[in-house]
Amino acid sequence: MSAVPADFDSATLRPGSPEHKRLLAQFFFDTHVQYDPERIAWPSLSDEELKRLTALPFWQEAVSTENVTSNTVTAAAALESDPELSRAIALQGFEEQRHARLLAALTAHYRIPIEFPAPYTPRKLEDDFLFAGFGECFDSFFAFGLFALARESGYFPAALVTVFEPVMEEEVRHILFFVNWVKARRMQLPWWRRPAFRARCAWIILKQVASRVKTARSMGGADPAGAPSENFTLTAHQNIAAPVTLHGLLEKCLAENDRRMARYDARLLRPRLVPGIARVLFRILPKSI
Ligand SMILES: [Fe+2]
Ligand SMILES: [Fe+2]
Repeated sequence: MSAVPADFDSATLRPGSPEHKRLLAQFFFDTHVQYDPERIAWPSLSDEELKRLTALPFWQEAVSTENVTSNTVTAAAALESDPELSRAIALQGFEEQRHARLLAALTAHYRIPIEFPAPYTPRKLEDDFLFAGFGECFDSFFAFGLFALARESGYFPAALVTVFEPVMEEEVRHILFFVNWVKARRMQLPWWRRPAFRARCAWIILKQVASRVKTARSMGGADPAGAPSENFTLTAHQNIAAPVTLHGLLEKCLAENDRRMARYDARLLRPRLVPGIARVLFRILPKSI
């Protein structure tokens, strides 16, 4: 699957080393898949299914999020001096643009009213890329579980769920690439600049955690309808599957995260923070919650 010689074991694969960077770029190119959102044969839906799809509260938010992420990631290729990694980030930008195109195609086909925002221009490129990347680490983790619940619930036809499988797999690759890139980026800095970089990442993660806590509180509080929010994956389970407890949702997310990550080269670092938090919550929360 990769052009990196098999005699590199994980012990010798130091993040930021030429071998690590080569493997990181290569894994990303090797696992890229072709599809064209404008050529998808959308399945026909019954009136009931169409109503359910149109009523999902997150279409507008999904379009806005993809607009910010796709434009940020595309621009972020300029951050990287390594030509292969830069090309890999540009490819990720293409994939994010394709998510936006897929949403545009779906909402046009099923006549879901959406306003398309003006293209987002990043202001502080590295901070914006880090913010988008850490945000994806949270959103994707929950999306993996929600997607499995949607698939199992039969709320939507299997043919429609299948259209989104490549998107899920791309998000796995994106967060895998991102956590390795962040570590490589830090390790390439002179030692005295690393603590500031770490602190900046921690601050950005905290901002993302704060926004998720806000959503989690609104889930259990005044807004049970799950109004659109910037982290819609946390509220989406109410709309796509049979009722599930938070404990059950965490279990599903953890299992799906492990299953999807297991497909990729073991020498690459795995996202640890979000699954780690989820594992602790899964252990301490009562099953009834
Ligand atoms: Fe995306
Ligand atoms: Fe992504």
